[in-house]
Amino acid sequence: MRIDDVLEKKLSCLPASRVKDAMIYSVTAGGKRIRPNLLYEVLKGYGCEESLGDDFAAAIEMIQTYSLIHDDLPAMDNDDLRRGKPTCHKQFDEATAILAGDGLLTYAFETACGCTADAALTKRAVCILAEMAGPKGMVLGQNYDMEGEQGITGFPQIQKIEKYKTGCLLSAPLMIGAVLAGKSDALVDQWHEIGDQIGLAFQVQDDILDVELTSEEFGKSNSDTRNHKATCVSLLGMDQAVKTMNDLYQNAKDRIASFDDFQSESLIVMIQMIQDRRK
Ligand code: IPE
Ligand code: IPE
Ligand code: MG
Ligand code: MG
Ligand code: MG
Repeated sequence: MRIDDVLEKKLSCLPASRVKDAMIYSVTAGGKRIRPNLLYEVLKGYGCEESLGDDFAAAIEMIQTYSLIHDDLPAMDNDDLRRGKPTCHKQFDEATAILAGDGLLTYAFETACGCTADAALTKRAVCILAEMAGPKGMVLGQNYDMEGEQGITGFPQIQKIEKYKTGCLLSAPLMIGAVLAGKSDALVDQWHEIGDQIGLAFQVQDDILDVELTSEEFGKSNSDTRNHKATCVSLLGMDQAVKTMNDLYQNAKDRIASFDDFQSESLIVMIQMIQDRRK
């Protein structure tokens, strides 16, 4: 896959160290690469070269991997299996896993700054990446998620947790693709809304699969029940959760298909594959 080559090139430049080994271990452990490929699909849909998105695609996957390394730590979900392998802190140690996450987060921004697009567009995209990943985005969602373990009362709160912890990092590649393609703020906002829908659908699906699959099938520990996690499934029940997920994906696909100047077929096929995933 294109993104694997880009990541390999970026990470191999780092000075030899245990933290480098841990970063490479987690980045190459076998992630699905959904976020970088969403970015490439948006660029292609607007008739741009994929190479324009390489730096941001790599940056987003580094941030995704950092979020998972920290999510698995004993202080958070305390999980042993990720991407079919021992989690970073199990393979290395907790201190190295914390540093590997820190390293991936910071190196993501250095990588994104290397983007060859117009400087103003690159700056706008870097700001979006920071906003979607940080304390207004994924980090905020992880904060809500940890509080959620202490009891939750309704679907609106679950929706808020899932929108931020997962929706933001799925919106980022769609928004950044539109920015790098030179699209207007109004259009970028529309991609943000579509990303929220796909992100919520994706997390509802993750909650469903956490119940339905074994950890071997899922490639990661399914710990929601052990952690008393409030999820869409625990709150709505399985049937309603499945309906919610399918409605959200359908809505997102319909909105993408309705764009005027966007070749949507390939992105819609990708979203259908995500919707049909069992992993
Ligand atoms: C896992 O995301 C975290 C969630 C938002 C559920 P993915 O299912 O995309 O994980 P990888 O990147 O393929 O490992
Ligand atoms: C975490 O959600 C999403 C992140 C921001 C890392 P989960 O805790 O449900 O993700 P998994 O199931 O461990 O991949
Ligand atoms: Mg978690
Ligand atoms: Mg987790
Ligand atoms: Mg989960």
